[in-house]
Amino acid sequence: MKRGFFIVLEGPDRSGKSTQAWLLKTWFERKGYCVVLTREPGGTKVSEQVRKILLDPNNNIERLTELFLYESSRAQHTLEIILPALKSGKVVISDRFTMSTSAYQGYGRGLPLKTVNTLNHIATCGLKPDLIFVFDIPDRIFAERERLAQKLTGPDRIERESAAFRKRVNRAYKIMAQKPGVDRVNGALPVADIQKEIISRVRRLVQGTGHKAQSSGGAVSNGLWPTNGQVTRHNAAVTSHRTQVTSNSASKTQKRKSTRLGKL
Ligand SMILES: Nc1ncnc2c1ncn2[C@@H]1O[C@H](COP(=O)(O)OP(=O)(O)OP(=O)(O)O)[C@@H](O)[C@H]1O
Ligand SMILES: [Mg+2]
Repeated sequence: MKRGFFIVLEGPDRSGKSTQAWLLKTWFERKGYCVVLTREPGGTKVSEQVRKILLDPNNNIERLTELFLYESSRAQHTLEIILPALKSGKVVISDRFTMSTSAYQGYGRGLPLKTVNTLNHIATCGLKPDLIFVFDIPDRIFAERERLAQKLTGPDRIERESAAFRKRVNRAYKIMAQKPGVDRVNGALPVADIQKEIISRVRRLVQGTGHKAQSSGGAVSNGLWPTNGQVTRHNAAVTSHRTQVTSNSASKTQKRKSTRLGKL
């Protein structure tokens, strides 16, 4: 079966995910890979509409409704963008994925993690990323970047949450960054140092699978991501067999491979 790579960047607000997602996309493209850079919530027309509802500070949304909205956006994103791209051998980089729902709706809102995990599994058809980078930043740096950002744009609905909520989310990421199969990123380091660290990890993944880049076609933006989210569609690089991936947890990787495109 043709299969690309699925790389996810996770972490609290302002931890540097989008900056690194963009740099990683550029790195892959320079190597000739076909890359889809996408984000959650969002990534498709419908999912971006759901994102607007979720982030609109004028909306009063119950936590259960919020959970379902995130998962509905994710289901559409997985089926319309991620799975087809992986199937055709592309590299998919997603700025946030299931771990965000565990952090914000599970730890942050206090919804049962078991429920969140079940819905995450359903919305993604059991798809697991090849790599998950979890950004960890000290509260002090978070506060500095927060002040800077809110001077530029007003806070969205989630960013308006209480300090206690934000603290629970940040703590959740610190816990999840320690999980096997996850790569913790020190978000307090300079951008170039973080990039180096991420690329070194990605190189090990690429080398472990023998995935080869093919010449790429023209870049096309899907116009869904107004910041730095150009989605690039190229001819697909192809991998037929995946060998063992160097990971924090080899057995976990094996398990992921078997559930990668598994249906419920
Ligand atoms: N390693 C870094 N050192 C210093 N500043 C950084 C670093 N990485 C990103 N920044 C800056 O911090 C701010 C937040 O970065 P970025 O938008 O990449 O974070 P994010 O995790 O995507 O945030 P959000 O969750 O709000 O989308 C930006 O102003 C960015 O330029
Ligand atoms: Mg971002």
